[in-house]
Amino acid sequence: MASPYEVRVFGDPVLRTVANEVTDIDGKLAKLAEDMLTTMYDEPGIGLAAPQVGVQKRFFVYDYGDGPAALINPVITESDGEWLYEEGCLSVPGLAWEIVRPKQILITGYDLDGNEVAIEADELESRLYQHEMDHLDGVLLLDRLDDETRKVAMRTVREKFLGLDPSPEAPDPARSTSTKRPAASGGLFLP
Ligand code: NI
Repeated sequence: MASPYEVRVFGDPVLRTVANEVTDIDGKLAKLAEDMLTTMYDEPGIGLAAPQVGVQKRFFVYDYGDGPAALINPVITESDGEWLYEEGCLSVPGLAWEIVRPKQILITGYDLDGNEVAIEADELESRLYQHEMDHLDGVLLLDRLDDETRKVAMRTVREKFLGLDPSPEAPDPARSTSTKRPAASGGLFLP
């Protein structure tokens, strides 16, 4: 069976828009979340934010190993520490970069039953939520890179996803990222 959705990739403007608050937690939202989870598992990935399937609403689905879940209107209320981890994204497939983000967070929001939830998360789980939160704000992992890395990364993604040739003096983008590819294709962290 085909995935209910096609995951939008770099270059799609929906990935750069700020999503709207969810106003109704209802059956329609539950169906949307279910379809998004199917798409997420098909990829496979561990998280998927609504804008990644073209829906401009503030929620994401995920499975951090405890089964499928959704977080609606999430807010990160506390963060602490720093943690470096190699991060990929289903919307920038085949590439990954080492990115520093807070190590621990407290995130609050609502589940699909409309119950308020508060989750304390560390390391990988914390990273997953922060990555999905970024999607709701139109932020991609490229925006989290330092200036120098970002310049090279932008050339790579423009060529790969927009079909633009890199300028002649640019470093070979394939070579500059080739060491990162095995981790990305391993599907360890693809939200
Ligand atoms: Ni992503």
